[in-house]
Amino acid sequence: MSSRPEAPRKSAKASFDTLYDRPHPARYFSALRPLEYNIPAYAQPVIESCVSALAELRRKSKITLLDLCSGYGVNGGLLKYDVSMDELYELYDDRGAKPNLAQRISQDREFLENRQRTDRDIVVVGQDIALNALNYAQSVGFVDATIKANLERRHLRGNEARLVSEVDLVTVTGGLSYIGSATFERVLSAVRQPPWILFFPLQHKPVYEIRDMIGSFGLDIEDAPRPVPQRRFKDERERRAILAETKQDATAPRDWPFGSYLEAKLCLARPAADIRALPLRRLLSDAFDAGSHGAESAA
Ligand SMILES: C[S@@+](CC[C@H](N)C(=O)[O-])C[C@H]1O[C@@H](n2cnc3c(N)ncnc32)[C@H](O)[C@@H]1O
Repeated sequence: MSSRPEAPRKSAKASFDTLYDRPHPARYFSALRPLEYNIPAYAQPVIESCVSALAELRRKSKITLLDLCSGYGVNGGLLKYDVSMDELYELYDDRGAKPNLAQRISQDREFLENRQRTDRDIVVVGQDIALNALNYAQSVGFVDATIKANLERRHLRGNEARLVSEVDLVTVTGGLSYIGSATFERVLSAVRQPPWILFFPLQHKPVYEIRDMIGSFGLDIEDAPRPVPQRRFKDERERRAILAETKQDATAPRDWPFGSYLEAKLCLARPAADIRALPLRRLLSDAFDAGSHGAESAA
């Protein structure tokens, strides 16, 4: 195991913590929209490709996905519904009339009503510490089941462990500042069959312990050759603070180009035999040839 420092740790990154556990995602989306938070949109075609490949390789008609730090269930939403991140930003626009929560959720459901995708059998399990966010995700069908647990601090309990045992694919977008190797250890100890893990660490914050933990369960990790933008820096102050932090951190990559965006790296962990059957390069070109969201920068 590596003795290098590990996330989660205190960061110069701007905090949006107060927006993570509202009964409705409007405030979260309205804060992140001007920052072009788009990592779920980048992830989505890759998740789709992973789901199709897993169904084929495992000869399964139903694929179970565990979305760690799922928040309001965006990853599940983009997968289960025919909607784009831009449409969700529009749906959750916080300006104008403010209907009450029940009206708002029923408007959301109305919008989503004819968008449900029925072409694949996918079960999405959302895990987070934010109960209100998980409840929202389930109420609009973005996730099928929820695990409200801080797996940095405690083990999976009865029904939670049963849900995780079925998991084929684990995803994390925007969550690796909050969870570390303990969460991965608990998940990987509970699965019946080694899952694929798609995760997006920030480019300036390598996650050595998480990688080591994943490796200790027999999974190999491939990194996409190019980073993808996670979001714009909140302001110049955040940009400078992160740059200063990066300079003090002996483990941070020296060649990181410091532009206007926080950048993330697409990483996919899988059993070696699955990598041989479908190398990341081919999986990514399948994902982006399918013409989804222009996340080609990772390929
Ligand atoms: C930036 S949001 C990302 C949400 C979602 N994945 C997305 O891309 O929109 C970070 C999420 O991590 C959750 N979180 C914070 N600490 C956590 C923990 N220990 N375990 C699980 N989730 C956590 C927050 O509640 C929040 O929903």
